Amino acid sequence: MAVLPSKSNSFKYDQVSRHISGLIEKGELKPGDKAPSLRILSKQLGVSISTVSQAYLNLEDQGVLNAKPQSGFFINTIVNPNNSIAKKTSPAGKPRKVKFGDLFEEIFISANNPRIVPFGTSKPSMEFMPVKSLTRATRSIISRYPEKCMDYCFPPGDRKLREQIALQYANTNTSVSADDIIVTSGATEALSLSIQAVAKRGDIIAVETPTYFSVLRLIEKMGLLALEIETDPKTGMELDALEDAFETMDIQAVLASPNISNPLGCLMPEEKKRALVNLLAERDVPLIEDDVYRDVYFGERSPRSSKSYDFNDMVLSCSSFSKTLAPGYRIGWIIPGRYKTKVIELKQATFSATSSINQFAMAEFLSSGQYDRHLVRLRQSMREQVEKGRFLISTHFPEGTFISMPQGGNVLWIEMPRGCNCIEIFNRALQKNIGVTPGILFSSTRKFKNHLRINCGFPWNEINIQAIVTLGKIVSDVLEEQRS
Ligand SMILES: Cc1ncc(COP(=O)(O)O)c(C=O)c1O
Repeated sequence: MAVLPSKSNSFKYDQVSRHISGLIEKGELKPGDKAPSLRILSKQLGVSISTVSQAYLNLEDQGVLNAKPQSGFFINTIVNPNNSIAKKTSPAGKPRKVKFGDLFEEIFISANNPRIVPFGTSKPSMEFMPVKSLTRATRSIISRYPEKCMDYCFPPGDRKLREQIALQYANTNTSVSADDIIVTSGATEALSLSIQAVAKRGDIIAVETPTYFSVLRLIEKMGLLALEIETDPKTGMELDALEDAFETMDIQAVLASPNISNPLGCLMPEEKKRALVNLLAERDVPLIEDDVYRDVYFGERSPRSSKSYDFNDMVLSCSSFSKTLAPGYRIGWIIPGRYKTKVIELKQATFSATSSINQFAMAEFLSSGQYDRHLVRLRQSMREQVEKGRFLISTHFPEGTFISMPQGGNVLWIEMPRGCNCIEIFNRALQKNIGVTPGILFSSTRKFKNHLRINCGFPWNEINIQAIVTLGKIVSDVLEEQRS
């Protein structure tokens, strides 16, 4: 019988957890291996099956194990299970103006350069997309409806496409009809219209922290104030912190990604999502939901849009096909609830019609029934990509590096040891033709100085693996120079 690591004042299941972690650290259990069955381990360690079960559930929570239905538990591809970002981000401060200045231009100049390793973007590689089928659908609609394709398709957009989008919500029992949807040019337009519909210059918008930089940029350009709310790396924006902020501030809207945030990859549990929607409804404050990653979840069940809890029509849910099909087609949508008339007026006055060809092509592709099958493959691929990315970064970055444990999407959020300046790392990486996104872009306060976001959506070929090795060396060099 194996002997449990003894610590008389700890729970038995903690001891079982440590036993498994010890086997991983010694290399006796490797990433991807099947963990011993509950029955065998309970016999080996002389504890009950329910103790082992509790230990495995805890290890799953920590991301060490990964449960596969009808197959048991497997070791996640993590070298050191203690390297996950676990702490909540800082409490809400003051509402602030966002001032990025030229920083974006410098950073995004590299995004279109195919010679640069694309860790700085946030999208799956086209190798994971149904390029041929979507091209076939596009060709087919152009040849069948050439005049219609060349004409305007004014808001709210193509009816067939809106019907197909509405059908997608039925998968999670969320009642959305074609009439509830307005087609937009990507999620960026949807977010921009939503903010314009509910807020005016000088108003306060509460956001997660860290938050997707384009949201901060929209806030900057619209002259609004960003209030960054404490965020849990697993469960998203903290509702207590949000409630506290409501006590002292006049918040005009909340903008959040309850379903897989960028960059943390956190997923708000359904009960917390419901509570968020109710909390805002009680205060008559709209929720702008950025839902672009909802279909790229890693768990067993599809998360629900906040719309499914929205009985007061106060959620403006924004999404697109950019992370699941074709970012270049620029097809997104908004379900604006009670703000529909305002959003249509704004769209007509600003961006007007969205590309007709691309709307019809998407509708054609969706109605062919291939989308759901594609999503199953995409989710599996992104999960593997992200796990491998964690494994590589854990191996090649210096000790003291913490890595997010995303529950979907394609990016990792990296906390490097203190003193690693992300702009220095960005510049040195660019000299080696490697793109990364510096952490300071994800807050109006520039507080994430020692953070990076890395895209794992590209296949881990030799070039990309070598780029992680080089990045790890750059981080270690910068750290050493800082310490000497
Ligand atoms: C969280 C999030 N929201 C919105 C967008 C923008 O999506 P789109 O390309 O559809 O405008 C992105 C793209 O990176 C994103 O990561």
